[in-house]
Amino acid sequence: MEHLIKDIGIIPAEDTQSCEYKVSEEENTGKSKKIYIESYGCQMNFSDSEIVASIMKEVGFDTTSNFELADVIFLNTCSIREKAEQTVRKRLQQFNQVKASKPELTIGILGCMAERLKEKLLEEEQLVDVVVGPDAYRDLPKLVQQAEDGTKGINTFLSREETYADISPVRLNSNGVSAFISIMRGCDNMCSFCVVPFTRGRERSRDPHSIVAEARGLVEKGYREVTLLGQNVDSYKWSAEENNKARLNKKGDEVQQIITFADLLEMVALVSPELRIRFSTSHPKDITDEVLYTMRKYSNICKYIHLPVQSGNSRILDLMNRTYDREWYLERVQKIREILGESCGISSDMIAGFCSETEEEHRDTLSLMDIVRFDFSYMFYYSERPGTLAAKKYPDDIPLEVKKRRLQEIIEKQNQLSLKRNQLDIGTVQEILIEGISKRSEDQLKGRTSANKVVIIPKGNHQPGDYVNVFIKDCSSATLFGELMD
Ligand code: SAH
Ligand code: SF4
Ligand code: F3S
Repeated sequence: MEHLIKDIGIIPAEDTQSCEYKVSEEENTGKSKKIYIESYGCQMNFSDSEIVASIMKEVGFDTTSNFELADVIFLNTCSIREKAEQTVRKRLQQFNQVKASKPELTIGILGCMAERLKEKLLEEEQLVDVVVGPDAYRDLPKLVQQAEDGTKGINTFLSREETYADISPVRLNSNGVSAFISIMRGCDNMCSFCVVPFTRGRERSRDPHSIVAEARGLVEKGYREVTLLGQNVDSYKWSAEENNKARLNKKGDEVQQIITFADLLEMVALVSPELRIRFSTSHPKDITDEVLYTMRKYSNICKYIHLPVQSGNSRILDLMNRTYDREWYLERVQKIREILGESCGISSDMIAGFCSETEEEHRDTLSLMDIVRFDFSYMFYYSERPGTLAAKKYPDDIPLEVKKRRLQEIIEKQNQLSLKRNQLDIGTVQEILIEGISKRSEDQLKGRTSANKVVIIPKGNHQPGDYVNVFIKDCSSATLFGELMD
């Protein structure tokens, strides 16, 4: 049984770095126990919660959206910025109050904070019963059972092989139209600001055949869009040899075949012309022309690339260990425009106030934004993470007020650019995939263009999952407003 899940909330923070989380919704298949999962951080984490729900379902747990009804509460956590961890700690205090009057409740910390803090979490947060890192979710039933019997448990083992390829996720965060598919785990880059390589371990790619099978299964259930997920999808690489599964051709000879991200994109695009393909995140150093040509070849691969630049200044990019410079990034953008045209959506992540960043270097970020004209960006100020290369090598020396002011300038710049980019769509006809009812009104539907822009249209006779051609008549910096075509 599929379930529609809604985003439950945004915890507003005093700065612009608000923290969004998602909650498991009610799924009642008559199991005796209930699990409540709250997920923080990136799409990979949301996707992992679906794997967790699937593993727990096997041992008798339905999901619930009401933590007061839960036998087990899991917080699937994020460590990317200090704020993300503070939010989880506050939330944990609330759950601990629930536990005070319901001692049989099991509370588990999963995800990146579990991996980063390990035993410390059990020591610091007395009422936490289980701590499980991203590669150890198969161990959850055992650890929860032990906790129910009174023994706290921890498993933060990071694997070189685990991809959960055989687990069919319980779709928790989906609208019944779009779903996430994890295609790889971990990250082998060492961006100096980033905690992910420490919390998610080594990069490994999932068997493409299991990815295609998952996409096929989703199409059969009525899904119309998949987003292929990885921290650096362009370094996806799978070979029978590396993965210890020699393949034989008809003559019985071993065939060694390397599947790249471009190959994988093509395999998934061929699953059904009715299925839209998205992917995230692309790394500027690794995105190939081959990927761009594959995107051009298939109309169901969305013309949208999330290509985080982080900074527009080459010295800062070097300190960040991003392994590309401003010129390289601009060349990649030019190639995208050349192969996929002006209308291809490009978005970015930005970090303001990285160690030793000068005003002039900050202005390089603003000028790069002007040159690229990003459709959208996720914007942050630098938050030092213990154990990272930057924390070890560079003083976090930009005062908080300066970081915040630079961030504000970046946000303002992005808002102007988003509005300009959206205005270019006014007067055009766009094919959108309808995802659901608009938040503003029951009489309006919300869909997305290939370039990932949200479009609001009158309801007409359409349903979520329909493809419709709409005429764009107006826009704001965040949304397009469309009319149904006859
Ligand atoms: N794999 C992706 C990024 C994943 S983390 C990539 O390489 O682009 C998502 C974003 O969080 C990053 O792109 C970065 O902009 C931001 N981020 C990561 N660590 C951060 C830190 N220490 N402080 C502020 N922002 C950070
Ligand atoms: Fe972090 Fe860099 Fe890996 Fe992205 S590519 S997850 S920023 S280390
Ligand atoms: Fe956060 Fe971990 Fe994702 S640190 S951004 S949940 S990989």
